[in-house]
Amino acid sequence: MLRWIILILLLVSIYKSYVGSTSKKTFDPGDKKIWLFTLIASHLTLLLGLYQWLFGRYGLFSYVKPDGISMMKDPYLRFFQMEHPVSMILAVLFITLGYGTAKKDLEDQAKYKKALRYFLLALVLILVAVPWPFRGLVARPLFPGM
Ligand code: HEM
Repeated sequence: MLRWIILILLLVSIYKSYVGSTSKKTFDPGDKKIWLFTLIASHLTLLLGLYQWLFGRYGLFSYVKPDGISMMKDPYLRFFQMEHPVSMILAVLFITLGYGTAKKDLEDQAKYKKALRYFLLALVLILVAVPWPFRGLVARPLFPGM
């Protein structure tokens, strides 16, 4: 569920910063608000994710690996214990930097352009690191619980 909220908000943020950077528009406080919602959604997911990462089903502290299994050699564990968390933490970092540009003392177009770059980086990381249903071994349903 949360992935959809983040993806939709992120896409709107990207659209707003794209329009802002290609037009001569002055910086719109409404855009900053959408960016803020994206920031909040991503930080909530970060908190939930950090909890899962440490104490969840495959948590670093809660999951007892069967003998002879190494996390980095097991593609499933590597995905949920390394690749997914690290990529998502970076994505949240980029969303935070993107939101931060709204407060920077920059020219309006430069602000939009910089934010656009950060949001696009975050989008790529999220798209690559979500366990989409077509991801084979690590696949998860599009709508969990349905
Ligand atoms: C933009 C941020 C994120 C998105 C969109 C996202 C998305 C997802 C999705 C779709 C799943 C599969 C849920 C299911 O259907 O079972 C998942 C699982 C998981 N995520 Fe994230 N995630 C994000 C951030 C994070 C972060 C920051 C961490 C850790 C620091 C994290 C750790 C995990 C773990 C450990 C699981 C596996 C949970 C389990 O199966 O027990 N996620 N995430």
